[in-house]
Amino acid sequence: MPVIFQRINEDHALRAAAIIVKAYIGPPWNEAWTLERATARMGELSTTPGWLGVGALENGALLGFAIGLPHTSAAGRGLYIPEIAVLPSHQGRGIGKQLLRFLEAEALSSGFSSAWLLSQSEGATAEYYKASGYNQATKLRIYSKPLKWSPESAR
Ligand SMILES: CC(C)(COP(=O)(O)OP(=O)(O)OC[C@H]1O[C@@H](n2cnc3c(N)ncnc32)[C@H](O)[C@@H]1OP(=O)(O)O)[C@@H](O)C(=O)NCCC(=O)NCCS
Repeated sequence: MPVIFQRINEDHALRAAAIIVKAYIGPPWNEAWTLERATARMGELSTTPGWLGVGALENGALLGFAIGLPHTSAAGRGLYIPEIAVLPSHQGRGIGKQLLRFLEAEALSSGFSSAWLLSQSEGATAEYYKASGYNQATKLRIYSKPLKWSPESAR
């Protein structure tokens, strides 16, 4: 059966939670997603106003997906891509590349002028984005902090 690329709805997005569980368990991420958390994540994304989701389907089964969210900045209407994943059994066959291309085409026709995302700084995932024409920012870093309860935080 041919692999078909199409826009996905909220039902598809929730089904894509199973792909997250399988795709992030190995290197470089080594993340132990439960299906419950992955479903919650996909629920967050697919209920965000203006979300744009695309999927790769074979015989009705979802093999991979990509999600974009609107992010307007001084530069214009940007598409932030918070999730893209392909089932490990189907990686390395060009599906990820075509998912990005399809998402970008859909974004362009919806009036977005750029796309951006956060990912690994090096390794196979970085090569994947570079191969699709994404350049790394040189000056930006991710800032994060665990949020813990303390008497000060209540004030
Ligand atoms: C990242 C991911 C979506 C790529 O999907 P994929 O279907 O395996 O990728 P493709 O087969 O379309 O590869 C596209 C290009 O990326 C590059 N690439 C892919 N895997 C690579 C690897 N292991 N090493 C080097 N380059 C690689 C190649 O340039 C490739 O093009 P080519 O085959 O014409 O040379 C997939 O590996 C995945 O789901 N990974 C786990 C989840 C994840 O990391 N998501 C992104 C989070 S930011």
